[in-house]
Amino acid sequence: MAQERLDRALAGTGRWSRKEIRDLIRQGRVQVDGAVVTRPETKICPETAQVRFGAETVPLQPFVYVMMHKPEGVLSATEDARRKTVLDLLPEPLRRRGLFPVGRLDQDSTGLMLLTDDGPMGHALLSPRRHVDKVYLVELEGQADGTDVQALASGMILGDGLRCLPARLELLDGGGRCLVTLREGKYHQVKRMLAARGKPVRSLKRLSMGPLRLDEGLAPGQWRMLTAEEMAALRQTTGRDAL
Ligand code: URA
Repeated sequence: MAQERLDRALAGTGRWSRKEIRDLIRQGRVQVDGAVVTRPETKICPETAQVRFGAETVPLQPFVYVMMHKPEGVLSATEDARRKTVLDLLPEPLRRRGLFPVGRLDQDSTGLMLLTDDGPMGHALLSPRRHVDKVYLVELEGQADGTDVQALASGMILGDGLRCLPARLELLDGGGRCLVTLREGKYHQVKRMLAARGKPVRSLKRLSMGPLRLDEGLAPGQWRMLTAEEMAALRQTTGRDAL
């Protein structure tokens, strides 16, 4: 995580002048992670550091946005008594912030997972009204063909009556691997649509969600903060200025 000088991080809150900040720090009135810090140039991590001014916690960054490459076998949940969750892959200071996964992936699915503590933004991304595209790379048992492409494009109705919005199926490698683009995110939707076509899914990896693409430099289980460009793109997609 990127480090920043304590005085600069506090200046970013807009609450004090730079001179006031330096004075407050030198007077020993600022604590970082429970310890008094008296050097304004002390490096901190603005995403995770707990900065206090007297009895007050000063939020340096109102929200945090994490891109993770979700590995297989990990739950898209915030906690579970027995099984490992995506939150367990983050360091303790980030876990303390109350991040949640935006959109679920099955336990055996992999790929792009966004975690944030910005509830309104998370809800805006998932809102059925916004139809944010999600792209999945799937490996099938058997091979998909043009009739499957047509069936998904015309909007499937599954056995339990679930009506799916039209979805895009692109055949790769003769149909054994495909890209599926959904504009919604119902429970097990990709697997259920393809199973209904007689082509069960062997593996599923989410490549993108709206403007966010999985950073292929992230190995399964690794994560990083979103870049300024990714945040700007998210802001545009969700129509939110508050990021
Ligand atoms: N559709 C599925 O069936 N599983 C996932 O994990 C995501 C989309």
